[in-house]
Amino acid sequence: MALKVTALENVGVEVSGFDITQPMKDAVAAELVSLWNEHAIVLFRGQNVNPENQIAFSRAFGELALHPLAATRSQEYPELFMLVNEPDKEKFMTANYNGQNTVGKLDWHMDLHYTGKPNRGALLRGVVCPSEDGLTGFGDLAKAYDALDKETQQLIENIEVTYAFSMQRRHMRYVDLRGYEPGPYSPKKPSDLNYPNFPEVVYPAVVTHPVTGRKILEICEQFLERIVAPHQAGLSNDEAIDLLQRLVEHTRKPEFHYFHQWQPGDMVLWDNWRAMHCATGTKPGVERVIHRTTIMGDATLGRMADA
Ligand SMILES: [Fe+2]
Repeated sequence: MALKVTALENVGVEVSGFDITQPMKDAVAAELVSLWNEHAIVLFRGQNVNPENQIAFSRAFGELALHPLAATRSQEYPELFMLVNEPDKEKFMTANYNGQNTVGKLDWHMDLHYTGKPNRGALLRGVVCPSEDGLTGFGDLAKAYDALDKETQQLIENIEVTYAFSMQRRHMRYVDLRGYEPGPYSPKKPSDLNYPNFPEVVYPAVVTHPVTGRKILEICEQFLERIVAPHQAGLSNDEAIDLLQRLVEHTRKPEFHYFHQWQPGDMVLWDNWRAMHCATGTKPGVERVIHRTTIMGDATLGRMADA
């Protein structure tokens, strides 16, 4: 049976025409990997999927990683990272955006970007899906790079950008946060969540994808801090801030985005070396469960700031 490939809105593809409950032929696995590399965002719908076959399916794309926080792993299936909106988590997942309390909203980011060694990719599966809100957005940063004018492409070729891991997202001084205000709580510090402290990390503004060779506009809004040594790139401090703001606004253009409204059983696979993602969040008290499997990354794309 041939795979059926349909373009999603703006970026990414939906793939059907195989049965996840059946052992996968090598040729089908190779075609799926090739579609993942070509399109970065791949949606699968209507599969009769359970934890076992989600894990087995994900292995077609590489070795699976375990999440560093044991509390977020499934006890039965350690390869599953549980994204769960539940009442006792809400106090530190809730923030006030544009006057509304929102649970689980996350700005655009790439997973493990703050370590310099992002995951290769991941696959999300909708388990309990609210009928409204709770969307996951995906953004194609290879297409974002291609759409830059030549002058900007040349300007950023030798620029590096610093990222600082922080659970308090208000530290992003250069980024318009669309009316973000702190919620009615004290955000937990990383140590409260048993998160290790991460030093600042530096990425080139343009990263060459280790597998496909495509150029990626490596602008990750979450934890974004500043351009490194702007004077060496011929920029004043103000020009560096303006450039960073302009690049962030470029990555936010809807033409590079696909937002998925979840139905139970839906799966979205993405290339975390090329695509950013975000979560729109839900209203407080809404149940939402997503299971993630994570494909390990073997390439170091960023360096420690003081290295
Ligand atoms: Fe993420």
